[in-house]
Amino acid sequence: MLETRAVWLAYGEDGAWAVEDATLAVRPGEDLCLVGRNGSGKSTLLSALNGGLAPRRGGVVVDGATVGAGRSSRLGAAWAVGLVSQDPESRILGSTVGEDVAFGPRNLGLAPEEVARRVAWALGSVGLADRAAQPCSELSGGQAQRLALASALAMEPPYLALDEVGGELDEGARAGVRALLGKGPLASCGRVRATHDVLDVASATSVAVMAGGRVTWQGSPWDFFCDLDLVAEAGMGGSVPAAWARDLVLSGLPLSLLADPAALARALGPAAAGGIGWCPSAAGPGTAPVDGAGLVLDGVSVTAPSGPVLAGLSLAVPRGAVTLVAGVSGSGKTTAARVAAGLLGPDSGSATLDGAPVRAGAVGIAFQRPEDQTLADSVLTDAMMGPSLPPCDPAGARGRAAAALAAVGLDESLWDRPTWCLSGGQRRRAALAAVVARPSGAYILDEPTVGLDGPGRAAVHAVARSLADGGAAVCVVSHDVGEWLPVADRLALVAGGRTVWEGPAAQGPSSGAFEAAGVRLPLELAVAREAGLL
Ligand SMILES: Nc1ncnc2c1ncn2[C@@H]1O[C@H](COP(=O)(O)OP(=O)(O)OP(=O)(O)O)[C@@H](O)[C@H]1O
Ligand SMILES: [Mg+2]
Repeated sequence: MLETRAVWLAYGEDGAWAVEDATLAVRPGEDLCLVGRNGSGKSTLLSALNGGLAPRRGGVVVDGATVGAGRSSRLGAAWAVGLVSQDPESRILGSTVGEDVAFGPRNLGLAPEEVARRVAWALGSVGLADRAAQPCSELSGGQAQRLALASALAMEPPYLALDEVGGELDEGARAGVRALLGKGPLASCGRVRATHDVLDVASATSVAVMAGGRVTWQGSPWDFFCDLDLVAEAGMGGSVPAAWARDLVLSGLPLSLLADPAALARALGPAAAGGIGWCPSAAGPGTAPVDGAGLVLDGVSVTAPSGPVLAGLSLAVPRGAVTLVAGVSGSGKTTAARVAAGLLGPDSGSATLDGAPVRAGAVGIAFQRPEDQTLADSVLTDAMMGPSLPPCDPAGARGRAAAALAAVGLDESLWDRPTWCLSGGQRRRAALAAVVARPSGAYILDEPTVGLDGPGRAAVHAVARSLADGGAAVCVVSHDVGEWLPVADRLALVAGGRTVWEGPAAQGPSSGAFEAAGVRLPLELAVAREAGLL
């Protein structure tokens, strides 16, 4: 059994408590989901499970042995508890994908054949079997996340601590990870997963809610979804899948139906259609004119050492509209975003803003990894950097920064903190605020809601909408298609380095475009289709 016994955790000598008095237990084969608002203490608690952060009080106990301060004991915990951290790229150790996965098993002193077997199994399990020789530096965010999971799996630990491992994955890949964890050798592994995803919670054996550093509730997923206040406390209030989970529980039906849209639509009946709240045919205008104003990529090709990344990709991001760009991991979205922002010169094709070649700095871009862009030593000074630079008036910088930080819902008590002393969701909000604080004609937000709780997501939707309503060209790259389609005017689906469909967002789900791009429909839309609404 993996246990935390009345654990208290803090960062730095005089830091405030990040986790207080947390007691949890996971037995082999159990799957505990840890939920809670951004900054509630989930990642902090997970990092203590494998000895990464030592408790100030209380203890972490693995199969009866307390994880102490001694090096050998901490190493033992690191082997017994495979931690996949929230920022997967921070953990990459090898130069190639295969080397990275082999690193841990080799350190265990395993025979080369056993190392090779584990590497092949782990990479195959996460869908990276054909990428063993690829340099890690060439991986997309979602691929890096799957690599981090493979590296943990290859250690074959009895316990896994997974920190938002589905965050940067597309819907299909998330379902794949959930299925993987519940079967084969992993079914007997004890798992603790921090997540903001309702479907993760629905597939768990138990749930723990954290708020303000404390575990405030523990119980079954059934009891969790029944209690509206609890779901709201966990930052999942107002979500359609959470409402359906509640409907299922109240009807005495299994939560596993959430993994099967056809069965869910049948089980919920007309209630399903009523619950969606957004129906493509009734969706926003989707009529923003594509007249060359805004960002335009035309026939863009980019080739990495291991092969083509973009193969003649064209895309229009008109002013006055939110354009959602979706596609499976590795389809080229982030590379396209870098070209559109003038940060990467294409091998052929062009990127223009309002008809002129795009200049680096002319487009506000929020990177997929917020860690890649926060520069100053506090949240507020970081957000003030953009609006302090010409042509902005530095006198207004503080006001603009404060307005942007408030708009993304970042609590004022955090504004003086260094950005590296924030939770994952808080850091993403800070990075987004720093981008939108600077006035610009175009913005690219790459996976802006990964790791955010429900209220944080709603705040970022509103920010994107208001930038577009103010006349900017807004491009949102996201796997969270279900949540962004109601916000977006336009949709572009990317596959294999090309745009396979582009048009009004409302027409996307019924166009066959998702199938063409290999993108799984989000649950809301899959149910809508089953209910005959698409
Ligand atoms: N390196 C750090 N130094 C100081 N404080 C930190 C550090 N990392 C996190 N914190 C603070 O500790 C508290 C708990 O953060 P933690 O990362 O555990 O939250 P979380 O529940 O994982 O949030 P999220 O959903 O955003 O990932 C927060 O108040 C956060 O600001
Ligand atoms: Mg976290």
